[in-house]
Amino acid sequence: MGRVQGKVALITGGASGIGLSAATLLAKEGAKVVIADFNTAGAEEAAAEIQKAGGEATGIFLDASKEESIRDAVEFTVNRYGLLNVLYNNVGVTNLQKDLDVVNIDLDEWDRLMNVNTKSVLLGSRFAIPHMIKAGGGSIINTASMAAFAGDALRSAYGASKAAVVNLTRYIAAQYGKDRIRCNGVAPGLVLTPAAKNNMPPAVLDIFEKFNALPYHGEPDDIGYTVLFLASDESKFITGQTFQVEGGHYMANPSIADFNAYMAQAQSK
Ligand SMILES: NC(=O)c1ccc[n+]([C@@H]2O[C@H](COP(=O)([O-])OP(=O)(O)OC[C@H]3O[C@@H](n4cnc5c(N)ncnc54)[C@H](O)[C@@H]3O)[C@@H](O)[C@H]2O)c1
Repeated sequence: MGRVQGKVALITGGASGIGLSAATLLAKEGAKVVIADFNTAGAEEAAAEIQKAGGEATGIFLDASKEESIRDAVEFTVNRYGLLNVLYNNVGVTNLQKDLDVVNIDLDEWDRLMNVNTKSVLLGSRFAIPHMIKAGGGSIINTASMAAFAGDALRSAYGASKAAVVNLTRYIAAQYGKDRIRCNGVAPGLVLTPAAKNNMPPAVLDIFEKFNALPYHGEPDDIGYTVLFLASDESKFITGQTFQVEGGHYMANPSIADFNAYMAQAQSK
């Protein structure tokens, strides 16, 4: 018996990286999975791989920036598999060229990121909740980011959009808990998805690893297993929480190194 045996899950942005890991793990543990992605061929390929491994999955097109497309993905899932228990709102985008500091940020990019990263979570949940109520409850999981919990030099819209996801997670949990719908988030630190590996120079990856408490990078399955737990009934008393899965990168006082150097110097006097 799998950990999510018989549940039906819709995963947005499931053709790659974190979403692909979650789709694969949920299917391996017995869920029927719809992988919805802008990259239709990638979604279909991911579903075919899952089928080959003995799981049940279907890949479909989704444009998470469009309300009708999100509604269609939810309706497709219910028509295909008869109900909906798990919604993983995972699509999220960023743009280092246009999402800059507050003075210089491109305002169209601000609107685009708020729409794709935050409004898509609202809409996915809005369309899924009535079906979850019919199914007797459900689990909504949202991908936030550690960018929601810290200030940074760039990506003002990304950070604000993900912080909004963290609080929207609490609102959904507060509003639909009595309907047995749980809503939680996962906030990854840097995760070595194919895109991150290909786009970041090794020197930048080294900087990230240096500030992790653990001596290694995050991988998609580190997030995928958290999603699996939150989708399963193992987490049935957890709601409204966002889990920070980030190797301890942000949990320590950043001035520790300088403080240690000061203490060493003071003691040597
Ligand atoms: N990788 C990291 O280090 C990291 C860190 C923190 C948060 N995140 C978040 O994790 C989530 C997944 O990121 P990832 O690193 O796996 O990315 P990824 O690029 O590997 O995968 C994202 C998927 O979403 C799809 N997608 C993009 N825009 C879409 C749209 N409008 N409609 C439908 N599908 C769309 C892409 O085609 C792709 O398959 C995002 O919300 C991201 O912000 C990632």
